[in-house]
Amino acid sequence: MTTPALNVLKYEDQIMKTPKEMPFRTVLSALSPNQGAEMLRYGWTKPGILSLAQGEGSVPTPDFIADAAYKAMKDGKTFYAPVPGVLELRQEISNYYSTVFGLNIPTSHIFATGSGTTAMHLALTAVLDEGDEIIAVTPIWKNLLGAIELTQAVTVQVPLEYKEGEGWDLDINKLFDAVTSKTKAMLIVTPSNPTGWVMSAPDIERVMDFARERGIWIISDEVYSRLSYNEKRTPSFLDYAEPEDRLFVVNSFSKSYAMTGWRLGWLVGPSYAEGPIRDLAMYDNMGPPTYAQYGAVAALRHGETFIAEQVERFKSNLDMVADRFQKNGRIVMPKPQATFYAFFKVKGEENDLALVKRLIDEGNLSLAPGCAFGKCCEGWVRMCFAVSKEKMADALDRLEKVVKPL
Ligand SMILES: Cc1ncc(COP(=O)(O)O)c(C=O)c1O
Repeated sequence: MTTPALNVLKYEDQIMKTPKEMPFRTVLSALSPNQGAEMLRYGWTKPGILSLAQGEGSVPTPDFIADAAYKAMKDGKTFYAPVPGVLELRQEISNYYSTVFGLNIPTSHIFATGSGTTAMHLALTAVLDEGDEIIAVTPIWKNLLGAIELTQAVTVQVPLEYKEGEGWDLDINKLFDAVTSKTKAMLIVTPSNPTGWVMSAPDIERVMDFARERGIWIISDEVYSRLSYNEKRTPSFLDYAEPEDRLFVVNSFSKSYAMTGWRLGWLVGPSYAEGPIRDLAMYDNMGPPTYAQYGAVAALRHGETFIAEQVERFKSNLDMVADRFQKNGRIVMPKPQATFYAFFKVKGEENDLALVKRLIDEGNLSLAPGCAFGKCCEGWVRMCFAVSKEKMADALDRLEKVVKPL
């Protein structure tokens, strides 16, 4: 059966329904279009498509992690666990902050969650009421904006600026100027998906001090903190927080340990968040799978070599991509400081959605359009390079079928 090609540029017309037509909460009818997801689905309809549109690599979870979860399952770790996670895992996360970050985070501040996405939902749901404003630094992973929409809070986007020859930059004063009497929180993703921008330690300190003075929550997504090309880990808001600050830090096992399919993450918050977060998680899914949490313990305990190997592999792929883009002559890519994404634009191509569709149709290559990451990214495209050398070379060949070198 062939799937009819979608007219993706008319996406909004296709999916937006009025509340009257849908027997669901109005908030669901009002969700903004997700053109990245729509393009992804469009790409999947093509035989032989190569997709580097999603944020994951091609290496499966290493055996030492899978074996630990399997052993736990065989040992009967198949019952309900405490909602904030098994103590062994919360303790191991605390140890990890001590050894890798040099920080003392007590287990009472740590919640194991069924993914980084779930950790984000818990933080947003704990903090935001309908009509509150949350300032989000963009470009940003669309799912985070969608998660805010579900709370019925209002997102105020403060974009990073692209400076030719320098890369992505955040004017901190613009972040501060965006604050109004309704501002409840700021959402900062550092390292950033899709740009690979990293907030500097002095800026983190300034933002933390500013937020503390005004009683504003910071929600910091640090899921790529270990995938840095310059340092063992990127600066964290936890480095500059007082124990009782209004700070939530979201983290995940997905990216550092090749565990995207496990759906495991964690949330760090102040001690007074323990009860509210436990209640929210209790009325949601009562915490992540018990046996899987023992895989996560092994990941944290024995995963440093694996992370170092991954970063080496990604770095070598990044060099390969940067080299090809430079030789191509039409592609501009500020080198990411972290993550595994090449975020680039093609000279003369202003419409990222049209370009991504052409790459699917003519190059059999699926990438993510910039418009999926906020209002700021017209013309930009994201490609995940966490794949094998062969796949990477294949992807670049397919790309250059459409974006011909000068
Ligand atoms: C910035 C950011 N936060 C969170 C996540 C989600 O991580 P998880 O797989 O743990 O839900 C992603 C996944 O792409 C991401 O890019």
